Amino acid sequence: MKPILAVNMKAYESAFGERALDVARSAREVANSYNDIRLILVANPLNASRLVSVYEDLYIQHADPVGFGAYTGFLPPGGVKLEGIRGVLLNHSEHKILYRDLEKTINMARDAGLEVMACADTPGEAASIAHLKPDMIALEPPELIGTGIPVSRAKPDVITRGVSTVKSIDEEILVLAGAGITSGNDALRALELGAQGVLVASTVMKSREPGKKMMELAEWMTRWVKR
Ligand code: G3P
Repeated sequence: MKPILAVNMKAYESAFGERALDVARSAREVANSYNDIRLILVANPLNASRLVSVYEDLYIQHADPVGFGAYTGFLPPGGVKLEGIRGVLLNHSEHKILYRDLEKTINMARDAGLEVMACADTPGEAASIAHLKPDMIALEPPELIGTGIPVSRAKPDVITRGVSTVKSIDEEILVLAGAGITSGNDALRALELGAQGVLVASTVMKSREPGKKMMELAEWMTRWVKR
């Protein structure tokens, strides 16, 4: 299995307009140069369908537990699939949803043929989400998000506990670590602790050269594969 580098574009200014297209083009370059890792771009709903025409391994940042119909402003998983988007990120700590809505959305996304990455704030939350069988769980202590203090240094035990808890429930679920990951070395450390990938945002999206930063992360993660 290839380690996953997931880049959440959030609602940073660089996630919109021309700059977002540049990020998507850079993602394509990085993915082509580093075949040993999987790079997933997690786009804002506003331009996800535009970006997917540039970079195909693209997720959307949210979906709602609704079907097609009279749901103004909602994002039906079936519609996400029809736009050619590969997967959906759910329950980010900046976009929390009720457990019963999460369950319904995961089921609807799966039925629509989407991959699901669900976020958890703690190993305990990861355990309860594991029972819903998403493809991936991204474990992110909220207090470290956007701080530049990497979870893989500040709270390594959260990663090790999260991985073992999720795997004891369903070993097929991939566990990613995120929050504060800034350098390639931080990403490598997360893999050493047992994570199967990382979820990052600000280090790429606030960088003057997002492509260069993705390249650095991919380079270090490739070292893990080649060991
Ligand atoms: O979704 C990724 C995220 O919440 C981590 O954010 O800025 O700490 O990499 P950041």
